[in-house]
Amino acid sequence: MRIDIVSVLPELLDSFFAHSILKRARDKQLAEVAIHNLRDYSTDKFRRTDDYAFGGGAGMVMTIEPIDRALEHLKSLYSYDEIIYTSPDGKPFNQSIANELSTKKNLLILCGHYKGIDQRVRDHLVTREISIGDYVLTGGELAAAVMSDAIIRLIPGVISDETSALSDSFQDNLLAPPVYTRPAEYRGWKVPDVLLSGHAARIEQWRHDQSLERTKRLRPDLLDGADN
Ligand code: ADE
Repeated sequence: MRIDIVSVLPELLDSFFAHSILKRARDKQLAEVAIHNLRDYSTDKFRRTDDYAFGGGAGMVMTIEPIDRALEHLKSLYSYDEIIYTSPDGKPFNQSIANELSTKKNLLILCGHYKGIDQRVRDHLVTREISIGDYVLTGGELAAAVMSDAIIRLIPGVISDETSALSDSFQDNLLAPPVYTRPAEYRGWKVPDVLLSGHAARIEQWRHDQSLERTKRLRPDLLDGADN
């Protein structure tokens, strides 16, 4: 998979992708992430990518020209399954969108900034808009990083335990069950006996029951419409 990210703050993203699992995914050539500076596509002598809003009002608006130029250039190199614009008014990102996007070959993420973006970009140049939550960030870079992380870790081979991505919280709309490691007892706090029993079927049943109980207690909204 390949993800191209277009941003006015590429430095912010460079360090994020230079570490941890994402670095490993890139090193193993399971995922390629390329970050592009939108200013490189500006023809303005100060490399500006924003302008005043027609009709007045506070805040600068991202202009369409450098964005169109960047997208045209990248589209001439890669065929994108989706061109995503990060915005608080987009569809809320969740595990099922991450699963879907992890099966794609080429994604482009355009990071929003300033007060907004010329509406014609949204109308004509992007295929979907995604929000990472009901709050407003100063820019879309963190949203691009969050989405890329959630997507890339699902690619087979990226995380060492192949099955662990499938037992994450939110897969099957259930929160993950509790986990424990050694010691079996610490300051009198014991690991549940069933986990030490060696009885695989009982352990699996216990984990499922715990997931269900946790979800009912902490996130009952996830159970609406779920098949559990
Ligand atoms: N840009 C600003 N806020 C955002 C959000 N909540 N999600 C995605 N992009 C954003």
